[in-house]
Amino acid sequence: MSAVNKLPNPDLHRGLEGIIVDSTSISKVNPDINSLIYYGYPIQELSEACSYEEIAYLLLHGELPNPTQLNQFTDYEKSFRYLSSEVISLLNLLKNACPMDALRTAVSFLSLEDYILKDKSIDINYRRAVHLLSIIPLIIATHYRIRNDLKTISPKKDVSLAENFFHMCFDQIPPKVVIKSFNISLILYAEHTFNASTFTARVISSSLSDMYSAVTGAIGSLKGPLHGGANEAVMQSFLDISDPKYAKNWTYKKLSNKEKIMGFGHRVYKNGDSRVPTMKNCLKELSEWKKNWKWYEIYEIIESIMVKEKNIYPNLDFPTGPSYYLMDFDMEYYTPIFVISRISGWTAHIMEQIAHNRLIRPLSQYIGPDIKKVIPLKDR
Ligand SMILES: CC(C)(COP(=O)(O)OP(=O)(O)OC[C@H]1O[C@@H](n2cnc3c(N)ncnc32)[C@H](O)[C@@H]1OP(=O)(O)O)[C@@H](O)C(=O)NCCC(=O)NCCS
Repeated sequence: MSAVNKLPNPDLHRGLEGIIVDSTSISKVNPDINSLIYYGYPIQELSEACSYEEIAYLLLHGELPNPTQLNQFTDYEKSFRYLSSEVISLLNLLKNACPMDALRTAVSFLSLEDYILKDKSIDINYRRAVHLLSIIPLIIATHYRIRNDLKTISPKKDVSLAENFFHMCFDQIPPKVVIKSFNISLILYAEHTFNASTFTARVISSSLSDMYSAVTGAIGSLKGPLHGGANEAVMQSFLDISDPKYAKNWTYKKLSNKEKIMGFGHRVYKNGDSRVPTMKNCLKELSEWKKNWKWYEIYEIIESIMVKEKNIYPNLDFPTGPSYYLMDFDMEYYTPIFVISRISGWTAHIMEQIAHNRLIRPLSQYIGPDIKKVIPLKDR
């Protein structure tokens, strides 16, 4: 009987840190230009020049659309702007559920409305991807209205995906500065290589399960505060600080207590998240529009202390938290908004995984008890 080896195995990489588990054409954090790229395009240029719909097309097709392709794509997306009465009833049942849980349950439910669930051909999965892109904002907005005892609002089909989302949440479409910043946040959040939720979706897809199962799992993964849930945690910190004059003490206290500050650090970026400057600029524009500089000032104080004391930089959740606050969204909807964006990356990865599938099944180092003899129940 050999004794169990409890020494750290040199082949063990906890959290898969530094391990390349598969190849992808979709995105890369490119160290040469210190930027995230989607199919070769730097994220900053995409945010400057494109709509979120163009990015969703890019992620699903591998290339940016020309005007005709974009029109066809947006018409196709708009054709899915409809919630069945069953989904609306479900959202009513889920009125008191946390919005991420309601969204996860509703997406899981959508599989019951897919009468060709077993068909996993490329064309049908592409149709599902565009359907999810279109319908997820509707689910979130409808849940928001129900949860706040407001009358639900039907979707508009003559406006962009972002404009329709605001329309269905607030019964109005805000000024351009808000739509522009919201669109940029969707572009920046859309895709980020093998992050936890995307990897979850790929693991689920690798057993040849269906797209709804993979997206349901991905939503569960994104919910956690070390991943997508951080944007809500960031705003909670800002509200706890409440005034820039308390930000310095708050930050030093967190550091001396060895507590993590939400919205800082990243497994891949160690010298700053390439998406942050673009989104910080949006936060600046929103602060100017609202004539409310409080959150921007708190941002700058925490950022400067974290860089000076720990050499740790903000990640994208740090500017999106206060930006969504200035756009008047309830805090618990910030991570669902992340889903409106990341669904395009997830579905692109699901389709890539299925196209070149290999079951994802890693090994583990056993550190449990050595082999034991089973004693019959009566003798235990
Ligand atoms: C994102 C995150 C999970 C990456 O984690 P990781 O690569 O595993 O890095 P670690 O958690 O091991 O951190 C490495 C070191 O930096 C410190 N650190 C990392 N993020 C920190 C943060 N947000 N605040 C304070 N210290 C932090 C850790 O305490 C650790 O210090 P130590 O070596 O002295 O113990 C981590 O930075 C984090 O928890 N951030 C806060 C949550 C967040 O913003 N998530 C959104 C990610 S996009």
